[in-house]
Amino acid sequence: MELEGKVAIVTGGAVRLGRALALALAYQGVRLALHYGSSETQAADTIAQIEAVGGEALAIQADLTRLEETRTIVSRAAQHFGQVDILVNSAAIFEPGDLSHTTEENWDRHFAINLKSPFFLSQAFAAHVGRTRRGHIINIADWRAFRPGTHYMAYTMTKGALITMTLSLALAAAPNIQVNAIAPGMILPPPGQGQAYLDQRAQTIPARRPGTPAEVAKAFLYLLDSDFVTGEVIFVTGGEHL
Ligand SMILES: NC(=O)c1ccc[n+]([C@@H]2O[C@H](COP(=O)([O-])OP(=O)(O)OC[C@H]3O[C@@H](n4cnc5c(N)ncnc54)[C@H](OP(=O)(O)O)[C@@H]3O)[C@@H](O)[C@H]2O)c1
Repeated sequence: MELEGKVAIVTGGAVRLGRALALALAYQGVRLALHYGSSETQAADTIAQIEAVGGEALAIQADLTRLEETRTIVSRAAQHFGQVDILVNSAAIFEPGDLSHTTEENWDRHFAINLKSPFFLSQAFAAHVGRTRRGHIINIADWRAFRPGTHYMAYTMTKGALITMTLSLALAAAPNIQVNAIAPGMILPPPGQGQAYLDQRAQTIPARRPGTPAEVAKAFLYLLDSDFVTGEVIFVTGGEHL
C-alpha cells in the first residue's frame, strides 16, 4: 500500500511501542488517529512531535474495557479524516497471574483490552472500508503466544487468541483487507524496570541483546508495504521464540 496520505488508527499510540509505530507511520506521510486511554499528556506530546514534522494527527480517548467506547473509535476517526485505511491494534495490558492467582478480574480485563477490543475494532474497520477499498489490520501480539509460560496466563491466552483472530480475519476480510500480526520479543522493559534489566535478561536469547522499537517498526512497515502478505506473523524477537 502506498502510505502517503492514508489514515491509520493506532490504539495505545501515546506511549512506548504504540507511539513508535504511530511515529513511523507519520514519517511516511500517514495521518494518525492516535488512540489513548489515560496517557493524555503523552498523546498531546506525540501529536506535537507528528505536527513538528508536518504530519496530522487527532487524539481519540477511549477506555478499551468499555465496548461502547471502543466502538466509537473508527467512526470518530472516519468523521474527522473522511477515511481510515489502517488499523493497528497495539494497546494491551501485561499483568502477572499464574494458575493459582489468576482472578476473574485479571482474566476479564486482559480479555476485554487485549482481545475483545481488537476484534470489535476490526469489525467496525472492515465495515467502514467495505469490500472495494484497500485496508490493513496489524495486530501486535507476542511470541509468548507460541511458547506459553505459566506466569502470565490470561495475557498469554489473549495473545494466542489474537494470533488465531489474525488468521481468521485474514480469510474473512479478503481480498481487499490484509490482516497480519507482529510478535515482538524483548523490546522495552516492563514497568518499574530499566534498560539494564532488559540488557541482562537478553543475554539468554540467541541475539544476546534486546530489540528496539525501530526494529519492530521495520517489520511493521514491511507488512504495510506488501500487497500479497496476509495471515502472517512476523517474529521480532532476536530468536527468543525459538
Ligand atoms: N514492550 C515489549 O517489549 C513488548 C513485547 C512483546 C509484546 N508487546 C506488545 O506490544 C504492544 C505494546 O506494548 P507496550 O509495552 O508498548 O505497551 P504498554 O507500555 O503496556 O502500553 C499499553 C498501552 O495500552 C493502552 N491501554 C491499556 N489499557 C487500556 C485501556 N483500558 N483503555 C485504553 N487503552 C489502554 C495504554 O494506553 P494509555 O497509556 O493511554 O492508558 C498504552 O498505550 C502490546 O500489545 C504488547 O503486548 C510488547
